[in-house]
Amino acid sequence: MNDPNGMVFHDGTYHLFYQYYPEAKIWGPMHWGHATSKDMVHWKEQPIALYPDSLGYIFSGSAVVDVNNTSGFGKNGKAPLVAIFTHHNPVLEKQKTGRHEYQSIAYSLDDGVTWTKYNGNPVLPNPGITDFRDPKVRWYEPQKKWIMTLATKDRITFYSSPGLKSWSKESEFGVDAGAHGGVWECPDLLPLTHNGKQVWVLIVNINPGGPNKGSAGQYFLGDFDGKTFTAYSKETKWLDWGADNYAAVTFSNTGNRSLLMGWMSNWQYANQVPTDPWRSANTISRELGLKTVGKELYMTSVPAKELDAIKAAGYSKKNLAVKAPVDLAPKGGNASGLFRLDLKTATANDFELVLSNKEGNELLIGYDKASNQYYIDRTKSGKVDFEAGFGQKHLAPRLSSDTKIALTLIADAASVELFADGGLTVMTDIFFADTPLSGLSIKSAKGIQIEDLQYHALKPSIE
Ligand code: FRU
Repeated sequence: MNDPNGMVFHDGTYHLFYQYYPEAKIWGPMHWGHATSKDMVHWKEQPIALYPDSLGYIFSGSAVVDVNNTSGFGKNGKAPLVAIFTHHNPVLEKQKTGRHEYQSIAYSLDDGVTWTKYNGNPVLPNPGITDFRDPKVRWYEPQKKWIMTLATKDRITFYSSPGLKSWSKESEFGVDAGAHGGVWECPDLLPLTHNGKQVWVLIVNINPGGPNKGSAGQYFLGDFDGKTFTAYSKETKWLDWGADNYAAVTFSNTGNRSLLMGWMSNWQYANQVPTDPWRSANTISRELGLKTVGKELYMTSVPAKELDAIKAAGYSKKNLAVKAPVDLAPKGGNASGLFRLDLKTATANDFELVLSNKEGNELLIGYDKASNQYYIDRTKSGKVDFEAGFGQKHLAPRLSSDTKIALTLIADAASVELFADGGLTVMTDIFFADTPLSGLSIKSAKGIQIEDLQYHALKPSIE
């Protein structure tokens, strides 16, 4: 799999579709796979939702609940789910027409189980832009119209529509803003509220050109008036500094909550990672917010509270002085598998968490005071030589000015998700240890006081 697609909450169920090639564990003719959940934690695999057709492969896109039946697809008072996706035509691609990507729609009247493609597809033809994809659609209530945020090569183009079947161009953003180390893909536009004021977030995934190489997600904060997005600043901010959170976008129809999920991989090595018979997974769901540091406003992301549903046994410690390594593995000495670690330090000094095994594999997660950076170092984490750039140390600036460091780590057998300072700095990295990393310890070259530490095993959540 790759990108999460069409994430939508409907009638008590979260739907997750995803880029999927069922015939092999490398990228190929894309389908939309499908999974459902009541809590974004326990997922149940469903039959494939969308298959490639004569118009092309089914690339990334979004889904909405068309509450007002603006599309006319609804029947007997039942609102349709409408998926808006990119058709990627491999025949036209070979002919190098530059017009091989266009936007199409499909609808479901049975809560996402079966889908009917609209016979008027494509609904947004290609005006001659090679990379023209990944529509993220939302309802813009003030003007009672749909807004499509589309990645168009080196910029975002906004379109609007009364009923999802025909689209008019509104504006463009970004040719002179943000990071341009690669093509722009998988955008999202969403409002968040900060101190009673509405702030619009424009998420733009980019590949390559991420802060730690390869694929990554940047965002801009600004205003949106139904036509134009005006950024407060043209500087990029990164929503995740790790190497493995790509194509992250939010669920649709979740009311006041903004819930983000990304694909835990990177195009730099996505087709090579040493797993079998599967490849790739998604991040946990993260709740988005806003926070100021000095005069600067940032988007924050923290684990969605639903994750607490799988909290299992654990322990807590108060006022722990750390210098030489302190063992943090729970009783029995085994921290392998899923766990959550929350800690708060008395000062912002160096420290390093070490996940390890008897084979000498080590995954290091820490904070370096001199450079004021967090890091995840996977150089010795096990299998790293399947791709030249995989075994590296990833860095992320500490943005917070708090004197204490608060940190949440969600660890799984092949991934870590780090949320520092209330989600101001986030890092997601995958790794492939030779045997499970069952050791967990913390050390500090200069010495540090941990005020509070909590460890919880997490129960596996696949149904
Ligand atoms: C991002 C992406 C999208 C595209 C899809 C194809 O990872 O390249 O831009 O729609 O994957 O699978």
